[in-house]
Amino acid sequence: MPRTLIEIDRSSSEPLYRQVRRVIEHSIAVGIFDSRRRLPSSRELAAELKVARNTINLAYQELLTEGLVLSHERSGIFVNPEMLAAAEADLPATDSMIDWSSRMRRYADEGVPDVEKTADWYKYPYPFIAGQIDVHSFPATAWVRSLREALYEPHRFASLQDSIGADDPMLIEMIRREILPARGIEAKPEQILITIGSQQGLDLLGRTLLGPHQRVGIENPGYLDARHIFLRTGAQVYGIDVDRDGLQLPDTLSGTALVYVTPSHHHPTNVTLSMERRRRLLKLAAASGTVVIEDDYDSEFRYEGSPSPALKALDSTGDVLYLGTFSKFLSPGLRLGFLVGPAELIQELRRVRRYQVRHPPGHMQRALALLIDSGDYHRALRHHRRQMKARWEMLSQLSVQCLPWDQTTYPPGGVSLWVEGPANLDAAELVRRAAERGVLIERGDIYYIQGDPPRNCFRIGYGAIPTRAIAEGMAVLGEVARSVLDEGPAA
Ligand SMILES: Cc1ncc(COP(=O)(O)O)c(C=O)c1O
Repeated sequence: MPRTLIEIDRSSSEPLYRQVRRVIEHSIAVGIFDSRRRLPSSRELAAELKVARNTINLAYQELLTEGLVLSHERSGIFVNPEMLAAAEADLPATDSMIDWSSRMRRYADEGVPDVEKTADWYKYPYPFIAGQIDVHSFPATAWVRSLREALYEPHRFASLQDSIGADDPMLIEMIRREILPARGIEAKPEQILITIGSQQGLDLLGRTLLGPHQRVGIENPGYLDARHIFLRTGAQVYGIDVDRDGLQLPDTLSGTALVYVTPSHHHPTNVTLSMERRRRLLKLAAASGTVVIEDDYDSEFRYEGSPSPALKALDSTGDVLYLGTFSKFLSPGLRLGFLVGPAELIQELRRVRRYQVRHPPGHMQRALALLIDSGDYHRALRHHRRQMKARWEMLSQLSVQCLPWDQTTYPPGGVSLWVEGPANLDAAELVRRAAERGVLIERGDIYYIQGDPPRNCFRIGYGAIPTRAIAEGMAVLGEVARSVLDEGPAA
């Protein structure tokens, strides 16, 4: 039984059983007692409060009569779930003495939209969303084995100790030997930092390298979370347009402190930055002293031809900052990624990270290292890539069959399709009406930096939706798209 925090005032004129009843009622309203667990028995409560059992029985009797609690034969007394809302509504409102809104620091990304995330996406029959995974394809058995192994010798210190600013050397070694070579990258251990996902990598870089009034170039359309993070440093963020070959480079990057790019599969359109433009980007950046961040978030997912090596693989100075993540494969919920850069910078980032979160959880790092070392990581990745390729092929065909306008071809990679509808398509309306029919897709206008973005684009993610739901979901999406185009936006 949890300690109940019930306090009885024996000098009060209020009868004891009423005090007990009032406190049980309050505990139910604030959620100390919930409907899944039985309430303390009269014997337990009587012992804790040092009152007679009869006093407790009287209190419970009143609550039973009013229906706030229910008695289940042989299992005890439970909160009546139907009365919970009424109990919560009775809680007195608290009056804060502090004007919190005036006390909180304001950031310069106010007004920039957030990617809209549907919290209960998995309850929808057709969740074509990006940024989540199909939880059934996660290698759960192998992961549990690694988590267990990481708690025993010779791994337990690495898992459980306070590592201050350091990372798990075994995970660093696995990334160096088993992950980076496939991207054409060679790195020494001191050039790698483990992160709590790319997002933390971007935040650490923003804090360390940027300040007010510095200029940052990002792709347009581009990754909204990166835009938020850079704006929050006070930097001036501008967009560089993207076409079918990726970033349309300007003549010079002079005056730009930092450029952020997604060369393998541009976010959100999935186009690949051409080799010629990669070389030019590195040349321009070297000429102006511009820092280049390469976000290689889903390079594992290439479905035709061989994956292009990372931009960092072409980098002769070692200055390109490379972000990798385990969010697309394995899972965004694990919050694990890494950053590769010059040792001097990595050392400073470690210090910055130390005063935020010290280090990513040691147990998770060691378990991931063991998963990679066992071969299970790459086995599961190969399986997952085959699945994603089948989904990409299926969706590329279905989008031609189901969507009521001419389709272009889709780049053979990534975890989503970027769809451009006819100029008169109101994609926000399509997203809204599709959700009413159980189909979740993402509107595209929010990824553009300009005030008046194209409104006819949307994203169909296929990382999270079960393969068997794709055909039916696309048929429904096609129907909704036809009706949105025929009827125009709702009044
Ligand atoms: C462009 C881009 N970078 C990185 C990530 C992954 O971020 P994290 O590693 O913080 O989960 C995503 C996920 O949606 C993304 O779209």
